[in-house]
Amino acid sequence: MVHLVVGGAGYIGSHLVKKLCDSNENVIVFDNLSSGFKENVDSRAEFVKGDLLNKEDFDQIDGKIDSVFHFAALKAAGESMEQPEKYSENNITGGINLFNFAISKGVKNFVFSSSAAVYGYPKTTPLDEKHDTNPINYYGYTKLTIENILKWYSKLKGINFAALRYFNATGYDVEGKLRGKEINPLNLLPIIMEVASGQREKLFVFGDDYDTSDGTCIRDYIHVDDLSNAHIKALDYIKNNKNLIVNLGTERGYSVLDIIKLASLVVGKDLSYEVVSRRVGDPSELIASSQLALKNLGWKAKQDMNSILKTTWDVYN
Ligand SMILES: NC(=O)c1ccc[n+]([C@@H]2O[C@H](COP(=O)([O-])OP(=O)(O)OC[C@H]3O[C@@H](n4cnc5c(N)ncnc54)[C@H](O)[C@@H]3O)[C@@H](O)[C@H]2O)c1
Repeated sequence: MVHLVVGGAGYIGSHLVKKLCDSNENVIVFDNLSSGFKENVDSRAEFVKGDLLNKEDFDQIDGKIDSVFHFAALKAAGESMEQPEKYSENNITGGINLFNFAISKGVKNFVFSSSAAVYGYPKTTPLDEKHDTNPINYYGYTKLTIENILKWYSKLKGINFAALRYFNATGYDVEGKLRGKEINPLNLLPIIMEVASGQREKLFVFGDDYDTSDGTCIRDYIHVDDLSNAHIKALDYIKNNKNLIVNLGTERGYSVLDIIKLASLVVGKDLSYEVVSRRVGDPSELIASSQLALKNLGWKAKQDMNSILKTTWDVYN
């Protein structure tokens, strides 16, 4: 099998690329390196530097492709509200260019990195896939738009697709081989690790007056190793002419203060933080129901918070 992994030099995609290469699959990574790193790409994979917005860049991809994993996107929710044009172009136009190219090459199977951001404010917890989709930021809207395009292309062009709605992706390669750190991370775990390693002075906790046990926001943190396994299972599932839209989470929530406490045990020092006011658009609690993934894919998260923190600290230490 030949897999085209678009955005495979990025944080999550590079973990899938390594796993596919470990299973002796043929992998082509297509990435413009806007936030990914060439060093992240497993040496057994072919690397093509290209941008989804330059259609001629696809000409560098030769031969038959069996499946496409589409990770490439801009992902900063706050930025998407200030520069929606950039997100329309990269995430929506880029996705359309990719699907049109791949369909013209006869590709049938597409696995797309969607997000819990498609739901907006949760009305229930845990959140299952039947929950309304009402994104509260433009980033989430771009993800929902691509899901909708995939639904139409499935009807009109006969493709199969899986849209995987990740919750908070965290952790690093359990074998310690992938070590590419994100530049200017916006997520809690890498920011904590930058504080622990002295790269950043302190950590800001956005609000401690939420309706949660300690007043800070609760999120569902899912290890990238578990995400990679889910991608492989999702591809196997859709290959039998099926589509799937599914949450990927652990069904367990941790508050920001829980994570700070647990991280300080792993890094062996107190972590300095300051509570500041709430950010706009942060729900108090976001926890996945992953029952559909269990039912359809036989998938369940295996890595725990300790593994998430240890594998991340191993990279930042
Ligand atoms: N990290 C999370 O917690 C999270 C949660 C939900 C969904 N997602 C989604 O998962 C996917 C991967 O996220 P990540 O955390 O690995 O991000 P990342 O920024 O590390 O990876 C994205 C990769 O895509 C590449 N890319 C971006 N635009 C491109 C373009 N126009 N042409 C070619 N390559 C391009 C980047 O260079 C990068 O290597 C994204 O689609 C993101 O929206 C991530």
